[in-house]
Amino acid sequence: MSIEYNNNECFIDGVPVQKIAKDYGTPCFIYSSNEIYKNFNEINESFSNEKRKVFYSVKANPNLSILKLLADMGAGFDIVSIGELERVIKIGVSPEKIIYSGVGKSEEEIIRSIEYGIYCLNVESFSELQRIAKISEKLGKITPVSIRVNPNIDPGSHEFISTGLESTKFGINLKNMVKAFSFANEQTFLNLIGIDYHIGSQIESLEPFQEAIISVKKIINELKKSGIKIDLIDMGGGLGINYKNNKTPTLKQFGSIINKTISDNDLSSYNIIIELGRSIVGNSGFIVTKAEYIKTDSEKNFVIVDAGMDNLIRPALYGAWHDIQPVIRSKEKEILYDVVGPVCECTDFLGKDRLLSVNQGDLLIISSCGAYASSMESNYNSRLRPPEIIIKNGKAFEIRKKEKIEDLFSREIIL
Ligand SMILES: Cc1ncc(COP(=O)(O)O)c(C=O)c1O
Repeated sequence: MSIEYNNNECFIDGVPVQKIAKDYGTPCFIYSSNEIYKNFNEINESFSNEKRKVFYSVKANPNLSILKLLADMGAGFDIVSIGELERVIKIGVSPEKIIYSGVGKSEEEIIRSIEYGIYCLNVESFSELQRIAKISEKLGKITPVSIRVNPNIDPGSHEFISTGLESTKFGINLKNMVKAFSFANEQTFLNLIGIDYHIGSQIESLEPFQEAIISVKKIINELKKSGIKIDLIDMGGGLGINYKNNKTPTLKQFGSIINKTISDNDLSSYNIIIELGRSIVGNSGFIVTKAEYIKTDSEKNFVIVDAGMDNLIRPALYGAWHDIQPVIRSKEKEILYDVVGPVCECTDFLGKDRLLSVNQGDLLIISSCGAYASSMESNYNSRLRPPEIIIKNGKAFEIRKKEKIEDLFSREIIL
């Protein structure tokens, strides 16, 4: 979603951003619940039916209130750690609505998810399969598993988030796939229910998703020849959002094309899951930050703000672009600035070469911070994590309190 201006003042869902900054301080995260409802409903209506379900990928934004909002709309949950598992359980989600992905599940994490009785573990290597089989036998439980294959598809996004290529650590490659499925199929304590893949994130066209379905159809045919039958296909997530002027497909277009490709490839009898993160919450979130200093005596002009790479690491990590606007628009002349944080790293920038009219003390608002922003935060430079606010029914609610100095060292021991 985009912010709205009324008399040159910025609003989110009818609430003045300046008022939120005054009440909760800066930096702070603000989310629009309307945007999350809209996105979830759009994909749910265009994709879901008896056999097709939308799961939310918790890593995009794991705030309990956001999880609850999605759970109330009927989402399932894709998790990658015991921490995410316990978050989802904490808000009362039934374990049969949880799928566990990730390449490095520890013994403790596997035991916990088996004890809860989650829907399925997505297995990413042969040695993980062996470990889960052994633990299941010890616990005397039969564990449902899917195997993540690596279909070797280039989704055309940043190399750090292109997970479906053979050169990455993810999934089992096509060469070893039949061996892994056969092994799983033979284990008394494993129930092989499905195949899983996730080709990448911030994918801006529909073709790679269609290509992946066609590739999986071939894999399923090959498995059939070896007498292996599955009934679940987990297609992962990855639909991109508009950060700049990039034109990504809508959730509706995505849902429709996936459904069409499923039918065209005769896969309608399978249970199908998609695990979306960014496209559901990405454009619901903003960071509001204050200009602490204006520095115009260097080679470049800098606005030094009170948010940094500890709050939003995407620009530093992937060179990602986030829109930055003043909260109150002024008529003063705009000049080019790099918007940078206070962290002691050259990579601590939020936006480069932005035309802004800004003075010390002014507020700026950074868009598209709903996904992979607060979830990727750190305490680097011993900085405090900011509060998170959500707008619901035209009112602002705090859904995470600002960290306190005591929180910073509450687990440390002075020798
Ligand atoms: C296995 C898996 N599923 C789903 C997702 C969600 O991806 P996105 O937020 O791009 O939809 C990810 C993200 O990396 C993932 O690794």
